[in-house]
Amino acid sequence: MVETIQWTDNAVVMIDQTRLPLEEKYVTCRTYEEVAEAIRGMTIRGAPAIGVAAAMGVALGVLHASERDLDGQFATICETLARTRPTAVNLFWAIDRMKRLYGTLGGHPLAGIRRRLVQEALLIREEDIAVCRAIGRHGAPLVPDHKTVLTHCNAGALATAGYGTALGVVRAAIESGKKIDVFADETRPFLQGARLTVWELQQDGIPATLITDSMAGHFLHSGRIGCVVVGADRIAANGDVANKIGTYPVAVLARENQVPFFVAAPISTLDLTLASGDQIPIEQRPAAEVTNLFGHPVAPAGTAVQNPAFDVTPARYVSAIITENGVARAPYEDSLKKLAG
Ligand code: MRU
Repeated sequence: MVETIQWTDNAVVMIDQTRLPLEEKYVTCRTYEEVAEAIRGMTIRGAPAIGVAAAMGVALGVLHASERDLDGQFATICETLARTRPTAVNLFWAIDRMKRLYGTLGGHPLAGIRRRLVQEALLIREEDIAVCRAIGRHGAPLVPDHKTVLTHCNAGALATAGYGTALGVVRAAIESGKKIDVFADETRPFLQGARLTVWELQQDGIPATLITDSMAGHFLHSGRIGCVVVGADRIAANGDVANKIGTYPVAVLARENQVPFFVAAPISTLDLTLASGDQIPIEQRPAAEVTNLFGHPVAPAGTAVQNPAFDVTPARYVSAIITENGVARAPYEDSLKKLAG
């Protein structure tokens, strides 16, 4: 399985997801500012993966911090990493976890603080892989056998520390003996489906077929798709799901065609402080992602552009939310609270 992010020789090493599938190149970040830039520029992306990157960024920052005003430096490191991308709550969850640990280490020698923060970041990475495997175990029985799974964006090993959430469900279903294949929406404008999901599934020998986003309705109507499984960037208390732009229309089309629409996400993606998806901040990305394809313009110069990176799927379209603690179903206010413990 592909190594998305690792801690090696006091540096953060990540596969460069802006280069895939053409080039399998690894980037080494030696400062927290470089980690922040890698998150902002989508060298690493996917909610759980950017959480792991942020935690490692905090550890890296403290590794290079001095004794003088350590608290001030720590706050700057955390703020810099938190300002990278607004939607995926896993980023803030991971930074908060590092902050909570730091808060307990007052009075410890700097070397000890550094060691504990590095340990915690590595633990977050390890836990993420275990969490994805648990999501897979809970989700596999829901996947219809001898059918196709439709997915949107990349919620695979590349979007996590390993194994994946939505693709973790696919992997676990196959490991349990089911004969399934995957249809991947290309996922305009950043093409995570075409570039990353198809590449990742090919690495594992899982049959994958690429479709454009506009073909989803056609195939959902065809009877071939057994279920849709997607990941999430933030899930509100009422079960509204923010995920990659284009997820909402897939959910509506799935409902229209009586195809179950599943969301696979760790508990760290829940934001139970938000009553509904209307309160989820939606990242706006640069216009060039829409007007250009691989550096080539596909629209007239000066074209007005909107580029929201995520949309919110209302909970009524979500058949179930698959977490490491079990499967939540409507009414989500109750079921998510129970699973979150
Ligand atoms: O903009 P991205 O590529 O970071 O968006 C990623 C997604 O929307 C994923 O579906 C989501 O983060 C879940 S990843 C397990």
